[in-house]
Amino acid sequence: MSSELNIKNYFEYAKSLTLKAGEIFKCGFEGDKIVETKEYDWDLVTDYDKKIEDLLIKNLKEKFPDHEFIGEETMVGTKETPVLTDKPTWIIDPIDGTVNYTNGNPNTCISVALAIRKELVIGIIYNPIVSELYTAIKGQGAFLNDKPIKTTCNTELKKSIMEVELVSLRSRARDRDIRLGRLEAYFNITRGVRYLGSAAMGLAYVAKGAVDCLQMDFLQSWDVAAGVLIVREAGGTVIATKEDEYNVMKPRTIAAANETLAMEIKQLIVDTDLKTMRKRLTKTSMRRKV
Ligand code: IPD
Ligand code: CA
Ligand code: CA
Ligand code: CA
Repeated sequence: MSSELNIKNYFEYAKSLTLKAGEIFKCGFEGDKIVETKEYDWDLVTDYDKKIEDLLIKNLKEKFPDHEFIGEETMVGTKETPVLTDKPTWIIDPIDGTVNYTNGNPNTCISVALAIRKELVIGIIYNPIVSELYTAIKGQGAFLNDKPIKTTCNTELKKSIMEVELVSLRSRARDRDIRLGRLEAYFNITRGVRYLGSAAMGLAYVAKGAVDCLQMDFLQSWDVAAGVLIVREAGGTVIATKEDEYNVMKPRTIAAANETLAMEIKQLIVDTDLKTMRKRLTKTSMRRKV
């Protein structure tokens, strides 16, 4: 059983390690790096993604030999689907926003989370470029550079700034129409739509109230785990818009905000998707008649 003291120890060690990894992160951001393309031309990886993940996992493993690890670059390499067991498990994205990173865009960060008995207990997001360290321990609040942060209490979508992180629109026609339909709705309803290009930074922005809400699609556990806990500890919630319960291991359409706003987004998605599907059906039946 992991006591509060253990969790505090895990946190302090992971925090100091993440700060150390931040130095490597900065070197790669400012200097030369090897950039490779993964499966799609919009999915990049650099030698620094691997260096940072190696440093984090090697040191955490040495310190906590009975812990498990889910790291983006390791998992993608094995092509296995990550499974969360009851064991303490570190969920790591060495660089979130690699495309920004390779372009010299500062919306990029390191994301480290710990789950124990499948529950998120530690979240750390570090953006070394702008020196922002977001942290949370379950039940103890969320912090930016040691100062408490809170999600906004804005409860109306029409008065909100909304961050979106959508997977590429170069997807099947049906999914593409659904996403474009949602985007149109967000543009029509909110005060503004933002696209940072880093899911973890997006969640951190929800937690500190720099955006009121966020909607994103099908991201992996390593993109969101730390941010989910940080949002929750900042008084917000993260929900799967098509399910009753959110499971961090299942990439889904999700909304993050205060409870009221998150529920408003959920309803908007249901209504908008229905309209899009109806439009598609009408188009298809008209084409058949011609
Ligand atoms: C990506 C970022 C991006 C999101 C992508 C993710 P990566 O993570 O979070 O904002 O839109 O879907 O894959 O690959 O830069 O770690
Ligand atoms: Ca990636
Ligand atoms: Ca990521
Ligand atoms: Ca990554």
